[in-house]
Amino acid sequence: MSKINPFKPNNPVSSEMFAGRHKEIRALEKGLYQTKNGFPSNILITGERGIGKSSLMNLFKHLAIGNISTENGFLNFIAVNVVVSDRTSLVTLIRLIERSISRELGKVETVRSFLAETWSFVQRIKLMDSGLDKADATDEADIVIDEFAYSLAQTCTRISNPQKGEAAKDGIVFIIDEADNACPNLHIGYFFKAVTEMLQQHGCEKVMFVVAGLPDVVEKLAKSHASSIRIFTHLSVKELSFSDTKYVLERGLLKGNEVNVEQTTMGDFAKDHVATLSEGYPHFIQQFAYSAYERNTDGEISVEDVFEGAFNEGGALDSIGSRYYAADYHSKIKSDEYRQVLSIMAENMSDWIKKSEIREKFTGDDQTLTDALKALTTRKIILKNASKMGEYRLQQRGFALWIKLFGSRPKK
Ligand SMILES: Nc1ncnc2c1ncn2[C@@H]1O[C@H](COP(=O)(O)OP(=O)(O)O)[C@@H](O)[C@H]1O
Ligand SMILES: [Mg+2]
Repeated sequence: MSKINPFKPNNPVSSEMFAGRHKEIRALEKGLYQTKNGFPSNILITGERGIGKSSLMNLFKHLAIGNISTENGFLNFIAVNVVVSDRTSLVTLIRLIERSISRELGKVETVRSFLAETWSFVQRIKLMDSGLDKADATDEADIVIDEFAYSLAQTCTRISNPQKGEAAKDGIVFIIDEADNACPNLHIGYFFKAVTEMLQQHGCEKVMFVVAGLPDVVEKLAKSHASSIRIFTHLSVKELSFSDTKYVLERGLLKGNEVNVEQTTMGDFAKDHVATLSEGYPHFIQQFAYSAYERNTDGEISVEDVFEGAFNEGGALDSIGSRYYAADYHSKIKSDEYRQVLSIMAENMSDWIKKSEIREKFTGDDQTLTDALKALTTRKIILKNASKMGEYRLQQRGFALWIKLFGSRPKK
């Protein structure tokens, strides 16, 4: 009989299988409590690909809307989810937000007509969308942001002081994921800075922004508006601990045994191997566990199942690579010598390494090494140390780990 695999290498993890992040959750809960009580707080979540930003945002949403209790009891916020793409313009962003608010709140007739009136400007700006893409459209962007902030403030006031037949809400939280995709004409940093200031001027204190993205989102925000970073408390998401990793495995097995007739166990030794291989990278944990679970046929996931699942053709490493790193490794890098440079650097994970140390192990000539380091830096695959000449490092530990594990395997 075929089994249902409980591990989720491709999706944010559900709240019942969520592990760790106690510090981050405390900060998010604190932010919600502050906002509920009129001291709005905004949080920026950054971290590498697959480190667990979207999963954390997902959990945050459940806390905000009261699906899960916080340390201050159940909360009752409206949550507005937006995923930014490189095509999202300011007008699209505002339209997405308006639609989401209408969906969440528009169930009551009286609120529906209130919303239609309060957000009527959105109908008008649809027409200007193409105009806003032009560089000289800053004035128009200002007006749109102003109208947006005003409508948002009105909406927030209404939901915290409801009329007869309407339920009171704690406020509105914006959950904005993949903000690193923002294109310049989204004016993302300026948007947050301006909106939060205007909300304050309108006396609206119950709106919280939680924004997530790759580490370079910080640069993007700052480029769009120098002080936009200051409105956020910054949380940087890192690897899970060894015990969190084991928790992920245990929860997964438990879940699997709930939904499958055939029961599955996993010995400590096999768990240790998943934990060691994955070095706390959530997407590696899920993928190694998924592949080992698939591999197993006798009810007990063994060390062999873990290894075969990890390294076989179509196994965990293949999947991780094609999902996260293969584009950088194969298509952005055409030369095997450049890849050799990356393999040498990966031995140091994402720590700084001197050019002279790379040279010792590199089999190509000096000029090639110089060219490789330059090209890899320009393509943002590696970083050059601004404060120390001749030092470089890989951008991401996850990428380093993948190269280390994958590099010894022949390319297909
Ligand atoms: N706290 C966690 N506990 C268990 N699994 C997690 C956790 N965070 C992330 N994962 C898993 O790691 C993978 C990547 O997570 P995701 O949230 O999509 O990362 P990101 O948004 O940073 O790219 C998913 O398979 C997800 O299920
Ligand atoms: Mg994500």
